[in-house]
Amino acid sequence: MLDVAVITATSPQGRSGANVVRWFLGQAERRGDLRLDVVDLNRVPLPPFHPERPPAGASAATRDLAARIGAADGFVVVTPEYNHAYPAVLKLAVDAVRREWAAKPAGFVSYGGQSGGLRAVEQLRLVFAELHVVSLRDTVSFHRVEGCFGEDGEPLDPAGVGGAAKVLLDQLIWWGTALREARAARPYTL
Ligand SMILES: Cc1cc2nc3c(=O)[nH]c(=O)nc-3n(C[C@H](O)[C@H](O)[C@H](O)COP(=O)(O)O)c2cc1C
Repeated sequence: MLDVAVITATSPQGRSGANVVRWFLGQAERRGDLRLDVVDLNRVPLPPFHPERPPAGASAATRDLAARIGAADGFVVVTPEYNHAYPAVLKLAVDAVRREWAAKPAGFVSYGGQSGGLRAVEQLRLVFAELHVVSLRDTVSFHRVEGCFGEDGEPLDPAGVGGAAKVLLDQLIWWGTALREARAARPYTL
């Protein structure tokens, strides 16, 4: 079993993001080889605007987030795209934690308008490189997301996006297992 934090940066008002998260969690849960911790950033009350400097002065929310990131062997980030980037709440969470990200893989599930959130993902790759996170090549992306789900909340192209999710999660397992073994054999120093 691999411990995976699924970090969701969806708007609390949006229906599309909720559909994407629910669908992806279903894909991950049915595999049986992942233990999921869903980090819904709408429920993580980080201090706004500026990251704290833990451990001195860190709030309970920052400490709790760091512990959850530290307990994970890999991450999947579910993000929309706003103005060619990812949401501010996600940057706040990324910056709130440091060492706990290191030497672990991250995959991306994105959604948006025409670009399907791909530009947000490319920006996240740059940011995560600074934190010693290995970003996975393959992603799941929902282009023009409002039209991707039916009234029942299920994707209209289940085979296409289901196949993409399988590739992403297979890569996450490979890297997550390999890096967990490597960290145990030789601590990763920053
Ligand atoms: C302020 C704003 C900026 C957006 N910018 C982009 C964009 O640059 N590229 C894109 O593909 N979609 C863009 N969109 C569309 C959103 O990605 C899409 O509506 C998505 O469903 C929003 O996710 P949410 O419901 O979780 O907020 C934008 C939406 C908003 C509200």
